[in-house]
Amino acid sequence: MITTDLNLIKQQLEQGDVVGIPTETVYGLAANIFNEQAISTIFSTKKRPQTNPLIVHVHSLEKAKEVAAHFPPKAEQLAAHFWPGPLTLILPKSPLISDGITAHQPTVAIRIPNHPITLHLLQTLDFPIAAPSANPYNRISPTRSAHVEAYFPEIAILEGGNCEAGVESTILSFDGDEVVLLRHGAISIEAIQQKVGRILDRTAGTDHQAPGRSKKHYSPLCELIISYEPLFMLSAVQEKKVGILWFKEVKIASPKVFKNVVLSPSGTYGEAAANMYDALHKLEKDGVDLIIVERLPNEGLGRTVNDRFERASAK
Ligand code: TXA
Ligand code: MG
Repeated sequence: MITTDLNLIKQQLEQGDVVGIPTETVYGLAANIFNEQAISTIFSTKKRPQTNPLIVHVHSLEKAKEVAAHFPPKAEQLAAHFWPGPLTLILPKSPLISDGITAHQPTVAIRIPNHPITLHLLQTLDFPIAAPSANPYNRISPTRSAHVEAYFPEIAILEGGNCEAGVESTILSFDGDEVVLLRHGAISIEAIQQKVGRILDRTAGTDHQAPGRSKKHYSPLCELIISYEPLFMLSAVQEKKVGILWFKEVKIASPKVFKNVVLSPSGTYGEAAANMYDALHKLEKDGVDLIIVERLPNEGLGRTVNDRFERASAK
């Protein structure tokens, strides 16, 4: 059920239910971080392995400091600049945070989401909320309330419009004095480097404890291929219902293609990122057998878009 009733969502969270909430990145599947049963329901609802920790969402830096044991200076600097916003910081956890949330790791993932309704919700609650993306494990992330409802018709979902960034938060951790990139996201590497200088890119790791980095993720049910030249791939395809996701224009329209979709008519990586999950949901609904994606230049948010499509294409 999709609702605009903030009070209902608040009550459900207070009584230990799992609800859908909007953020500026993607919709989340949220629960009270202090309710062990509710946290465990997040995992069972998503069919997510218990080894994959959750992000804690708070409304202020002060609250963030209550759930972290220590806030290194570079984390302070990044939080001051990017929060509220699509940046998740991995920090040593405070004793307030249970092992159920962190999958028994000594660290906790924290962010302040930049969505007015969810910020307001967090301010009215007495507890932070844990929220992974509101999709079943490894499936396409949700950027609209209707996407969440299609996956989880049994839960209440707070309507918050279409997600502005449309792609998950960038995840950073800290290794001594080094800033480490764990997941490409809605804030580009370049924007982070501008603030803190050099960062270490560990996004290629497939550490099972951060399965956002697992090879296969964000996937439609059909086959997906990513290529600089989508039409080259077509020659190998026989009798398939094909959808192509182009970056800024349909380079060549082929009669073999069922649907051509342009991710960013204005030709910006940010717009492509904002539209990509919705485009995948739509093509899946159309019942295509194959999605071919035009690879973006590997810079700025183009990297994030390529990362998601690479994982969506993994077997
Ligand atoms: O934009 C977002 O970050 C969205 C919205 C709802 O806030 N949330 C989201 O959560 O993408 P999720 O659970 O789908 O992805 C969180 C990622 C997972 O890959 C998880 O393994 C990693 O964060 N993670 C969480 N806690 C961690 C920790 N302590 N150390 C390393 N990775 C962690
Ligand atoms: Mg996710």
